[in-house]
Amino acid sequence: MNTNLLARLGMAIPVIQGPFGGGLSTVKLTAAVTNAGGMGSYGAHLLEPREIIDVTHAIRQKTDGPFVMNLWVDREDESSRKTDSPTFGRAVSEMEAIYQKHHVAPPIFAASEPLDFERQAEAILEACPPVFSFVFGIPSREILNECRKRGIVTMGAATTLDEAQAIEAAGVDIVLATGFEAGGHRPSFLRPAADSLHGTFALVRQIVESVSIPVIAAGGIADAKGVVAAITLGASAVQVGTAYLACEESGAHPIHKETLFQPSARHTRLSDHVTGRLARFIVTPTLEQLERTNRIQLGYPIQGELTRPFNAMNEGLFYAGQGAPLLHHHNATDLTRALAALISTITKS
Ligand SMILES: Cc1cc2nc3c(=O)[nH]c(=O)nc-3n(C[C@H](O)[C@H](O)[C@H](O)COP(=O)(O)O)c2cc1C
Repeated sequence: MNTNLLARLGMAIPVIQGPFGGGLSTVKLTAAVTNAGGMGSYGAHLLEPREIIDVTHAIRQKTDGPFVMNLWVDREDESSRKTDSPTFGRAVSEMEAIYQKHHVAPPIFAASEPLDFERQAEAILEACPPVFSFVFGIPSREILNECRKRGIVTMGAATTLDEAQAIEAAGVDIVLATGFEAGGHRPSFLRPAADSLHGTFALVRQIVESVSIPVIAAGGIADAKGVVAAITLGASAVQVGTAYLACEESGAHPIHKETLFQPSARHTRLSDHVTGRLARFIVTPTLEQLERTNRIQLGYPIQGELTRPFNAMNEGLFYAGQGAPLLHHHNATDLTRALAALISTITKS
């Protein structure tokens, strides 16, 4: 185990709770994981700069330990930027039957200014969290230099070996190797996500062999044996998402949490129909109907406006990683403590 990294970050066990965007992170979850000896994260990519500062402050009120604030570097696809009202209207009318079936009102086109990453990053610098993690790209040299000056540890996500090498070359402190088993989006930035689908096992080994910064493994890890396996492959720690999303402290809807424990969660797949970017979902009749009906792809984030009515009502679009069938815990403190106890038992035996 890379005790240097754990000591540097102030973690008792090598487990990071993965950040969740879109209102699914909570201050309570982040603090619970940190207070139980791991490191909690907060997905802030949909927050205004002021909110980022407030949330960071709120987490500090609940814990003295380390935590991560997380942003998306690339926040908008070109196809989304170019979508006008008539194109949006055509996509909505293609999907008329599915809105009717679910008794939801079809969405209305509303041009909106996307949040600006640079301004969000300035808020991170001001709030000065212990760790700043990012996906979908690498922040500018200026931002990374400022983080270093302020003692903020940086962590960038890689879905390929090339991305990991680019992250190391940019001077980022830690690389997250995220395999395609993971819940949430595939945060590729050098090649299209569909061409960057490496499994956690293969990806972690390749990255550990070729970079000298610490590697964190993510994707399909949901129990202590998974943590120990990732560390055996050379990872310094792991990032666990789905298992924490299912806990009562997360911001996920109760129906979503409940579904993660059901046999239906054994079958997930990557789809870009829900948000415009490839992400992993439980295969439900709603997802299948959406994929059949929606032929005009608008790109991230405006594609998400087409599916927002279902998300708002929890109508069958459920993010999940491939580790869902391993879930047992409904409470983040219990999960973190159970991981700590079992990791210690396995490593001693
Ligand atoms: C619903 C959901 C939302 C996520 N949002 C983000 C995000 O905003 N930023 C990020 O870096 N990772 C995000 N992730 C990825 C997780 O932080 C974590 O890396 C991943 O879930 C690990 O794989 P696992 O789900 O198999 O444990 C998200 C994952 C899920 C399930």
